[in-house]
Amino acid sequence: MDRKIAIFASGTGSNFEALANHIINNRDDARVVCLVCDKKNAPVIDKAKKLNIDTLVISIKDYEDKEAYESEILKYLEYKNIDLILLAGYLKIIGDTLLNKYVNRIINIHPSLLPKYPGLNAMKRSYDDKSEMGVTVHYVDSGLDTGKIIKQKKLEVDRNLKFDVVENKMHELEHRLYIEVLDMLLEGEHYEDK
Ligand code: GRF
Repeated sequence: MDRKIAIFASGTGSNFEALANHIINNRDDARVVCLVCDKKNAPVIDKAKKLNIDTLVISIKDYEDKEAYESEILKYLEYKNIDLILLAGYLKIIGDTLLNKYVNRIINIHPSLLPKYPGLNAMKRSYDDKSEMGVTVHYVDSGLDTGKIIKQKKLEVDRNLKFDVVENKMHELEHRLYIEVLDMLLEGEHYEDK
């Protein structure tokens, strides 16, 4: 079965690129059909262009409210027959319009060991606190990084390293974990946090 995936991203797009390349190179049963980006000049847009992936650039400012904004996104996803949504640095809470149509089919990656450090700047906050660091992939619900956890990985790293070194290692870990979970989802495996 050819599963059609949409990735939502607002920033650099390293997770977008890792996921898209993995699918292009390793899976003939899935396709990243489109990028949905809510920031006009985000670097992820160029990454999608280079991989010939269609992009919807859309700003909530152009709509009356979140419902109208998400309805427009939904129209596009339905036109593209999207089965699965992967959030990869999309900086908005998903609202009911999308959640109700894609029940248990919206996944997110977050740079902390949830439920610790939900929300913005999670990596920096956990680094500054000298807390255990790691990455979580989870289902998306209406809360801020509160959905059911699919899988987590700790970062085993020397905590005397500078933040930017740790940040790079965290990104590598994110890419590995997100790809691993995506493969599991595509294989139809049931996952629980291990
Ligand atoms: C990642 O740290 C991800 O966990 C968070 O947003 C960041 C996106 O990074 N949700 P990138 O744009 O994929 O490089």
